[in-house]
Amino acid sequence: TDRYAVTGHPLGHTKSPFIHTSFARSTGQDMEYLAIEAAPGSFRETAEAFRASGGRGLNITAPFKLDAFAFATEHSEAARLAGAANALSFDDDGRIRAENFDGVGLVNDVQRNLGLALACKRVLMLGAGGAARSALLPFLAQGPAAFVLVNRDTAKARELAARVAGAGPITAAGYDELGDAPFDLVLNATSASLRAELPPVPPGVFAGHTLAYELAYGKGLTPFLALARQAGAARLADGVGMLVEQAAEAFAWWRGVRPATGEVIRALTVPLA
Ligand code: ATR
Repeated sequence: TDRYAVTGHPLGHTKSPFIHTSFARSTGQDMEYLAIEAAPGSFRETAEAFRASGGRGLNITAPFKLDAFAFATEHSEAARLAGAANALSFDDDGRIRAENFDGVGLVNDVQRNLGLALACKRVLMLGAGGAARSALLPFLAQGPAAFVLVNRDTAKARELAARVAGAGPITAAGYDELGDAPFDLVLNATSASLRAELPPVPPGVFAGHTLAYELAYGKGLTPFLALARQAGAARLADGVGMLVEQAAEAFAWWRGVRPATGEVIRALTVPLA
């Protein structure tokens, strides 16, 4: 039985063991998946101990994604751009490979599960932190008409946009520069919802065809989603699908088998109220 685990701090309500155990069952893979809470500052020891005990791979959540990146010996392009890893593979030859599936998980949820094809669409992303960073390349790869990255600290948004400018039509802006032109997709990649705060986004970015997507999950109707609804957005979503889709990517990377995600997403979906 091959062993995998998720590590983070705190880890209290992690859905990853449920998700991966469901995938293992549906694909007939002989594996176990644990939750290992690590004390702050102890990622390396925790990962080493897990590897020494026969661990084949780890998922990594806050606050260890940067530590996991530093711990790896090889890094995918997605992990490099994010500067952070959310999955590690411990190979037989001693290599430790880092991946970051957060961005591709988000894009897959939007396109496959929510049915919004991103080609030629106008996309607005709020936030320029770690969550935004891992999503940029996967979004630009879909050929949007425009991708606007907005942040309170506009220098941070500009710097990030400049790093991926060759990959597609990305522009950086401040919240006060957003005009009245609505977007097809508005993504909240800020950490505001974790404190029930509202990013200063003008309601004009939402219209009757807009999908408003909150990257956080399990927070119900966040201030961002409430604003979107009030401003007439067509549809609201939270990040539960992204969570399951990034897990599916990691599972396929580790096991070479791609699990179906629909049933697991349905099992974890909480109505937004
Ligand atoms: P994460 O890894 O979740 O992205 P982070 O790297 O700390 O976390 O980044 C947090 C992001 O949320 C930043 O873009 C931050 O904006 P600033 O860079 O301007 O500070 C954004 N953020 C946090 N609280 C916010 C709020 N109340 N309104 C708007 N943006 C907010």
